[in-house]
Amino acid sequence: MRTPSYFFVNKLLMHPAAKPVVFGLALLPLCWLVGAVATDALGANPAEALIRSLGDWTLRMLCLVLAVTPARVMTGTPALARFRRMLGLFVFFYAMLHLLAYAWFDMGFDGAEIARDVTKRPFILVGMLAGLWLLVLAATSFNRAIRWMGGPRWRMLHRAVYAIAVLAILHFYWMRAGKNDFAEVAVYAVLLAALLGWRVWHRLQQRRKPPAPDRASDGH
Ligand code: HEM
Repeated sequence: MRTPSYFFVNKLLMHPAAKPVVFGLALLPLCWLVGAVATDALGANPAEALIRSLGDWTLRMLCLVLAVTPARVMTGTPALARFRRMLGLFVFFYAMLHLLAYAWFDMGFDGAEIARDVTKRPFILVGMLAGLWLLVLAATSFNRAIRWMGGPRWRMLHRAVYAIAVLAILHFYWMRAGKNDFAEVAVYAVLLAALLGWRVWHRLQQRRKPPAPDRASDGH
């Protein structure tokens, strides 16, 4: 049964101001980082802190975008789907800032040095692969690309977000392996495993049932 709070939440999510609010919230980590750089609050090694913080926020945004569909289905709130594309583009945005900070502060924008680093450190190669996939998904995230590719092919391509999640954890794990520090990696690995595992469970449940009207719109 749909309670008054259900209608209230849906109305709130469908409000014209909802998207700008979510956009503003997703920009807050960047504003905080810019403030920390300006006030010299990033500690003894600001370049490293900046690269790592941007990596952390890329991963958090990825977790958030992958949580949209489970939250939508479990709470029966279809309006949540409105924010998925924007959040997905924010994953790409933070990943590109992370890459830019690395290319600038660690590599001095030296292409040959970056190419050498990719072949020398496997975690950089894995990060680059995840970044490349994110670029493909961002470039094909618009309505025109969906129309051009056709829904089924587009959906198939965008399932690469699951591979990106695995690459992101591998990247993080490999980076921390040198320091033998896996606590945070384990937290994100469990979270992403739960978000991907839910999809497998949900798909199996759906197969057992006759198709529901909202099934065709099931996304990531
Ligand atoms: C686009 C290519 C990428 C490059 C070149 C790259 C490079 C790096 C570098 C240099 C570090 C810091 C290593 C250190 O301080 O020793 C790092 C850390 C990290 N990266 Fe990436 N990365 C990339 C993509 C990604 C992506 C796509 C994600 C997540 C979806 C990600 C998540 C992280 C995380 C979580 C950390 C660790 C932060 C911490 O220690 O708190 N990276 N990456």
